Amino acid sequence: MGKNYFRAFNENIGVNESGHLQVEDVDATQLAEKFGTPVYVISENQIYANVKRWHAAFTSRYPRSEILFATKANNNLAVRRVFTLAGAGGDAFGPGELYLTLLAGTDPDRVVLNGFNKQDQEIRMAIEAGAAIHLDAPDELEDVIRVANDTGIRARIGLRTRLLLHDLDHLESDWPPGIKIGRGVREINKFGIALDDLETVCERVLQNPVTELVGLHHHVGRWAPDLKIHEAVVKDQMEVAVRLKDRFGWIPEYFDFGGGFAWGRSEGHGPLGADRGSPTAEEFAETMTSLFREALHTHDLGEPRLMIEPGRALASDIGILLTKVGIRKWFSDVHQTWIGLDASENHLLNILSSGFYYHPVVTDRVDEQPTETVNLGDPLCWFGNLALNVQLPRVERGDIIAFLDTGAYCESKSLQFNAMPRPATVMVSGSRTEIITERETLQDVTRRFRLPARLMPEPTPPINAMSKLNSP
Ligand SMILES: Cc1ncc(COP(=O)(O)O)c(C=O)c1O
Repeated sequence: MGKNYFRAFNENIGVNESGHLQVEDVDATQLAEKFGTPVYVISENQIYANVKRWHAAFTSRYPRSEILFATKANNNLAVRRVFTLAGAGGDAFGPGELYLTLLAGTDPDRVVLNGFNKQDQEIRMAIEAGAAIHLDAPDELEDVIRVANDTGIRARIGLRTRLLLHDLDHLESDWPPGIKIGRGVREINKFGIALDDLETVCERVLQNPVTELVGLHHHVGRWAPDLKIHEAVVKDQMEVAVRLKDRFGWIPEYFDFGGGFAWGRSEGHGPLGADRGSPTAEEFAETMTSLFREALHTHDLGEPRLMIEPGRALASDIGILLTKVGIRKWFSDVHQTWIGLDASENHLLNILSSGFYYHPVVTDRVDEQPTETVNLGDPLCWFGNLALNVQLPRVERGDIIAFLDTGAYCESKSLQFNAMPRPATVMVSGSRTEIITERETLQDVTRRFRLPARLMPEPTPPINAMSKLNSP
């Protein structure tokens, strides 16, 4: 495997002695030539490396820990399959993700269904597979009971809590910028069962013969790269567990603390490029498991399973996006150079939705000294700024630029705005390269549209016939 990087971005992506970006054993510029651009590239072995690191960080501190990959971060089937082969369970949101997660062979005992306003299709699929359903609202229970009765199978249920997290009242988020996190989780968050309703719901689940109460869940989301966020979640959730134990004698079979683990690199990543030195897997694990173990011990809660559902922390650095340089222009009044690329915000949607920065490098001159400051523009008819004021060596038409760390929330959020076909995805494993998502065609872009017969255009003569008609 290509471990002899001159400079490594991670275990499987780095810069070789010639200054070229390499994914495992394959030169990134050659990948762009072979598969065309824009193209997402995934390193299979980085998936294994990331799952192994998070698994070791948690199980070495609390052996009954399990890593569930948040399938939303990258729902490509081959990617999901490798996560499963690497030992990750799955957090699925909605029927599509549940279907993909199960299709990839993930052990249903380590699959959880999250969702807001779940529909019968996904509830039924979860019950039939034996995956746990995380209730998000009191009246969702009626739907689960109805579907469970219909299938004749007992539903495994977890309660998703709406924690108040007052310990975060003075901590500021970096996205959305400047909001106090405690207020943010209470005021701009639709998820979870209100604490006022929790005991009633718990009692109803415990009493119903077609439901089995197995877990407690909370997902806080990514607000800032700060351990205090996850500390507050564990602390508040353990208080909830103690309340339920005192009232009903119920002890969860598992605690699922969700995802939201910020991930960064020193060159910058994430909202406003702020994720430069995020906590490591070991630091997250130490903070969470020490509090968790202490609470279990103090309140006699046994030794339940501990689950986490990282998305970005497991998948960001498994992939890059390769894009080709086209036009260049200079605006003398504002002293700006604009470079046109063939990738767009359609393919890196977090730039638009959460001010994301993905670090760009020129694939065959990664470590060359920057000589100019440029704006990287995309071919879309909206602001379409992939990155502003970035320092790069001079690039010319045909050069390949790689955006690093595009493994999470890029392919899974990609759009067709401006009727643009979406890119292919290639998986690299050692020196092997395989297409795992086909590049879309113009036919794909129009495939779902229907033109009612009454709106059909009149048949027009072929163009060469028209030019004959028009000629004198
Ligand atoms: C329930 C749940 N779990 C896990 C995740 C993954 O979050 P992240 O990618 O920030 O780790 C999400 C993201 O929205 C989520 O909603």
